[in-house]
Amino acid sequence: MSIKTVRTVQELRDIVRYWRGEGLSVGLVPTMGALHLGHLSLVRAAEKMCDRVVVTLFVNPTQFGEDEDYSDYPRNEDQDRDLVAAEGAHALFAPDVDEMYPGGSITEVHVPGLDTVLEGEHRPGHFTGVATVVTKLLLQSQADHAFFGEKDYQQLQVIKALARDLCIPTEIHGVPTVRESDGLALSSRNRYLSDQERAIAPTLNAVLVQVAADFRDGGSGENLCRAARAELKSAGFGPVDYVAIVDATTLQPVESHDANRPARVLAAATLGRARLIDNLPVDNIPV
Ligand code: PAF
Repeated sequence: MSIKTVRTVQELRDIVRYWRGEGLSVGLVPTMGALHLGHLSLVRAAEKMCDRVVVTLFVNPTQFGEDEDYSDYPRNEDQDRDLVAAEGAHALFAPDVDEMYPGGSITEVHVPGLDTVLEGEHRPGHFTGVATVVTKLLLQSQADHAFFGEKDYQQLQVIKALARDLCIPTEIHGVPTVRESDGLALSSRNRYLSDQERAIAPTLNAVLVQVAADFRDGGSGENLCRAARAELKSAGFGPVDYVAIVDATTLQPVESHDANRPARVLAAATLGRARLIDNLPVDNIPV
């Protein structure tokens, strides 16, 4: 399956304009590469809904903190291109840093309230980097639809808010998390886990499933999250940055279950070199 690789915003615009002229709809799948089955499920979702699919591949420096893994982040463009080509994507947009951030770039996108809680508290500036680059990608591509994994649930809410508030006409879609058979959410960072850590890692998902069930059964959000943090630590996780039950849209904490108010349980914890995140909807989760 052949796929066109484009490296400049102008080339991307030209190809999208051509498709539009042919009456074709366009879907965008933003990624930082190191692709796995989770990313490929985004490509499949895009293909179901759109006539043409553009996958973007850009390791965005502005969303990494100083102590994070920007320089070590796995990069293998040829392998990623083959994977998305085999899924039937039509174009790969793989710009360099200067194309995305031309000299003198000073504009940033902030999504106050959503970008400073949970992940935002532990990774200051991360969501400003994400919101800024995703705004650029949406405006550069002018896609009809864009697809993001629910694995990065807070990121998805930040992106939905910015698209709504900046009147970006692209429709934003969340795609369910893809998991290993033992429940571990797929992530490019799982490759950092040793065999021993890999055996512990599914505990994160198991604990969240239990928290969601106990919350539905009337447990207090604060107590359940405190107990879950202790359980993760005793399972072998290092710092547990948070376990939280929050309103599914505002990401503000909720203390008791209300079937009419969708809630989400989210967690982030370190295991060896890997910082793992996961989340689940509180309702409709089998235990
Ligand atoms: O989820 C990711 O891979 C990145 O945060 C994204 C959305 C591609 C922006 O760089």
